[in-house]
Amino acid sequence: MLIRVLGSGAGGGFPQWNCNCQNCLRLRRGEISARPRTQSSIAVSTDGNDWVLFNASPDIRFQLEANPPLQPRHGVRDTPIRAIVLIDAQIDHTAGLLFLRESTRPLQVYCSEPVYQDLTTGFPVLNLLEHYCGVEPHRIPLDGGAFTIPGIADLRFVGHALKSKAPPYSPHRHAPHPGDNIGVLVEQPSSGKKLYYAPGLGEIEPQVLAAMHEADCVLVDGTFWSEDEMAKVGSPKRAREIGHLPQSGPGGMIEVLGQIPPLTRKILIHINNTNPILDEDSPERQRLAAAGIEVAYDGMEIVL
Ligand code: MLT
Ligand code: MN
Ligand code: ZN
Repeated sequence: MLIRVLGSGAGGGFPQWNCNCQNCLRLRRGEISARPRTQSSIAVSTDGNDWVLFNASPDIRFQLEANPPLQPRHGVRDTPIRAIVLIDAQIDHTAGLLFLRESTRPLQVYCSEPVYQDLTTGFPVLNLLEHYCGVEPHRIPLDGGAFTIPGIADLRFVGHALKSKAPPYSPHRHAPHPGDNIGVLVEQPSSGKKLYYAPGLGEIEPQVLAAMHEADCVLVDGTFWSEDEMAKVGSPKRAREIGHLPQSGPGGMIEVLGQIPPLTRKILIHINNTNPILDEDSPERQRLAAAGIEVAYDGMEIVL
């Protein structure tokens, strides 16, 4: 299985346009060992020819230009992107659909029922696209059943509901529904290799831990280091409150990943620009390294 990290940042990316936090400021000044990051998305393939996109970030144009395997090959209009799987309806994961409107075929969009509802009401991007390329929506089952995607050979997908957060424009923002956010286990039957992808993860429920144990690689929520990190930028929002389990502290992601077998690759993704782990020289980054936890970067290639 081939996995390409198209964007490893959280909403806003790194640096964020209006942010003057120590990370964003020092990155602009060239005073930090850190890489800029576009917003959250990965692509998965088995043969390098046909790809499934997970999430469509507002930075998608730059991401596709930066990743040659995702560029057109045959004829005047072409794309190796066969489908788009959405793990939630947040702007950083869905606004990029607008920039795929030139598609010559309807976009094949796989999402849960609540995400479909949000994308046809609060943020009606799927309706808008009807005036361009159109969309063929496919519901992701959340009952443990696997689904496959036409045109994507040798991959099967199992989605499950997660405790995280629906977007601010969702009627579910303060009334969570199963499927507002999902995690996906991606399996390549011929090799038995499995990826667990959950970039927005607020709470570790038993099915999450089970999926992490099953996987050869976990690519999970790395948004915040600490529960009150947003205070640095004047926001009272707490990490868990907005659906992101922080890395540090009791029950945090470092502790959780410590329970996963040592040979499993553990990689954080969807890193917020305020997170100290973006600084490669920081003590927080050293703590991750000591715990065997990697930090995804744009352009990272993972082969399972
Ligand atoms: C989140 O996952 O909480 C988002 O990154 C928020 C956003 O995109 O504004
Ligand atoms: Mn996000
Ligand atoms: Zn910042």
